[in-house]
Amino acid sequence: MESEFVLEMLDVTKKFPGVMALSNVDFRVKPGTVHALMGENGAGKSTLMKCLFGIYRMDQGTIIVKGKKSYFSSAADAMAAGVSMIHQELSNVPQRSVSQNIWLGREPLNKLHFIDHKKMTRDTSILLKSLNFDFDPSAKMADLSISQQQGCEIAKAVSYNASIVVMDEPTSSLTENEVEHLFSIIRDLRSRGVAIIYISHKMEEIFQIADFVTVMRDGHIIGTYPVAELSNDRLISLMVGRDTSHRFPLVESAIGDVCLEIKNLTSANPRSFKNISFELHRGEILGFGGLVGAQRTELMESIFGIREVADGEVIVRGVPLNKLTPQNTIRLGIGLVTEDRRNTGIFPLLNVTINTTIPSMGKYKNKIGLLDHRRLINDAHEQNRQLKTKALSMETLVQNLSGGNQQKVILSRWLMTVPEILIMDEPTRGIDVGTKYEIYTIMAELVRMGKSIIMVSSEMPELVGMSHRVVVLCEGRLTGILSKEEISQEAIMRYATQFS
Ligand SMILES: Nc1ncnc2c1ncn2[C@@H]1O[C@H](COP(=O)(O)OP(=O)(O)OP(=O)(O)O)[C@@H](O)[C@H]1O
Ligand SMILES: [Mg+2]
Repeated sequence: MESEFVLEMLDVTKKFPGVMALSNVDFRVKPGTVHALMGENGAGKSTLMKCLFGIYRMDQGTIIVKGKKSYFSSAADAMAAGVSMIHQELSNVPQRSVSQNIWLGREPLNKLHFIDHKKMTRDTSILLKSLNFDFDPSAKMADLSISQQQGCEIAKAVSYNASIVVMDEPTSSLTENEVEHLFSIIRDLRSRGVAIIYISHKMEEIFQIADFVTVMRDGHIIGTYPVAELSNDRLISLMVGRDTSHRFPLVESAIGDVCLEIKNLTSANPRSFKNISFELHRGEILGFGGLVGAQRTELMESIFGIREVADGEVIVRGVPLNKLTPQNTIRLGIGLVTEDRRNTGIFPLLNVTINTTIPSMGKYKNKIGLLDHRRLINDAHEQNRQLKTKALSMETLVQNLSGGNQQKVILSRWLMTVPEILIMDEPTRGIDVGTKYEIYTIMAELVRMGKSIIMVSSEMPELVGMSHRVVVLCEGRLTGILSKEEISQEAIMRYATQFS
């Protein structure tokens, strides 16, 4: 008998040393639906998908694809059976072309058994057109934007005639328009009968795109629900296991003197930001709004001293910095929580303690100059406890943490340095809804102590809910500074799209 499900994962159990990542999980997906997989950081979402793809070996369980018991020993194996995954960490060969990447390992051959490049390019071109992508099949992968690279992986999945496509946090680096395009492709795939398994922490996306949602908590399935029958609040309480009434804490702080002044700052990169001027006060949370591509990250990295500036001044507590280097800015009490933990934040092969304490080691020297290990470890532990970092122990290697928990370690790192000025670039990206509130509470506490925060965020509610003022950038230009009374999603959007 034909099953009504395209995928059934039954009684799946996966244990890591000391952690039950999945306990007797049953997960069923119907064809032609978008099925969201949700849950707090470390709930087991990525692990479940990695078991499906044979990246992890499950300890127990059965996988049935299209009615047939299946075990894949690798992602390539799964792909050949029509099960593909669009990774968060894109897995292409950057130095090869789009078409080479798509047909890798199954290149069409001509009569002489050479690779038929013409056919490959032609097929790619047709494939890309059918998905409304307008980039060149012979373009080098490394030269494409994140969204285009993601597009290639989707095209590849389609070329394999995938019946199941898994997307793990696919929109985290996409612009608004790119998200819209992705959603139209998802809807198109759905209408062709493809099942899409969609992992995301963004509630709005789930309500926009998903038909069903399965909620996981601590390696267990809580339930599967039609999205139409769920409210936002109900979904959150299913995920965190309790009711959460407030999204944002009260931010009560005295706004003091100017502690950071940026004057006409211009990037050395002509395609980046120009002529940026603003002031940050003690006790203030200054939000930075804008669309992806507004150059906010570039601006923050320049202020912190890791990108070159061509012109302008950075003045810290009245003193102009004559040399912008991270050593100098850290010494002056500036911290930067980077948006991209993979490239600039985490040391995957080091443990949680070391990852947390690297920049604050200096503060833990005792009178005779020796490192006070006990205090260091205690504080690191306490900071991670506050953020609910889920790790087996402080000695666990960071590479073994879930995505969101790696982000929490980075946050803990900079909170431990207790900087005077903390620049937070997308501080809650990839963080579950339950923990976001914890992070907001810590931010509120910092400014209450007289510290200052710059918060770059693409989440409108967060900008509106937490900022004293919001600076808006559009294509590298400062287009508006909104006072508390002026802040609204509409106003931010208006300035963020000033030039389009
Ligand atoms: N390779 C590994 N070695 C040891 N433990 C692991 C490994 N991979 C995952 N875990 C643990 O398994 C649990 C589930 O992690 P998983 O990555 O599946 O979470 P997730 O739901 O995807 O979370 P996030 O939303 O943060 O990405 C976590 O406790 C994690 O620390
Ligand atoms: Mg994950």
